[in-house]
Amino acid sequence: MDTTEDRTRAAWAIASRKYEDEYAEHLELARTAELLPAELGVIGGLVPGADVVHPMSGHGLDDIALARLGARSVHGIDYSEAAVSSARRRADELGLPCRYTRAALPASGLEAACADLVYTGKGALIWVTDLDAFLAECRRLLRPDGRLYVYEAHPLVPLWDWDPEQIRVRADRGYFSPTHVNDTYPGNGAVERQHTLSGIVMACRRAGLEIEHLDEHPEPFWYPGGVTAAAWDGRVPNTFSLLARPER
Ligand SMILES: C[S@@+](CC[C@H](N)C(=O)[O-])C[C@H]1O[C@@H](n2cnc3c(N)ncnc32)[C@H](O)[C@@H]1O
Repeated sequence: MDTTEDRTRAAWAIASRKYEDEYAEHLELARTAELLPAELGVIGGLVPGADVVHPMSGHGLDDIALARLGARSVHGIDYSEAAVSSARRRADELGLPCRYTRAALPASGLEAACADLVYTGKGALIWVTDLDAFLAECRRLLRPDGRLYVYEAHPLVPLWDWDPEQIRVRADRGYFSPTHVNDTYPGNGAVERQHTLSGIVMACRRAGLEIEHLDEHPEPFWYPGGVTAAAWDGRVPNTFSLLARPER
């Protein structure tokens, strides 16, 4: 691990304590957690009966939503002990077929071809240092007819200022910069990776994945409390979604 990755991992170890400290609040959210309408439109029909693997599962609320949608099993992978243990406890309490492994991706430690669906995103790719290695692992986990689904912050998002009146590009950010220091959540000096949209698409190809769906959406997947930015008013992209399958 390089020092940047050490710093990011340490930042998540601190930030993820929130999932334990706010266990009751997250349990209440879990009782009604659902995938977003844009996600349901693409993978709603793939989830019932599927074995799902969720790299970077975080608080696990999406795992609950996937299980409730009819997934046969959901296996979350995250390197934060607090994230994994609190997500496991919530799923157990709700009696849902979710299990968790603590692992530092891209080395998931899971068997090859164990997943009908690899589901990830909502703040995952920005922590991926080696996109080729991460996507190769996703590809390895997929069964021949399986699918990778990503619903993620658009690569332009680091550029948007949160000015409420005008859409502004931050002077300290660049679309082609490889990294920037996170100044929201998890904070604590975590270093975000910036992957361009073409970089993500071409990395999928290099991993032997054929893209079946690629879309850009105006809505953010996360609205930080107390802010209403002009960049979220529907004129610029804030998220993208991608569905890919192993090349035939
Ligand atoms: C913003 S969360 C997103 C996860 C999930 N979508 C959510 O909303 O909670 C990012 C998660 O990725 C985990 N993470 C970051 N880098 C990782 C790595 N290399 N291996 C495993 N987990 C990692 C962090 O611990 C954190 O729980």
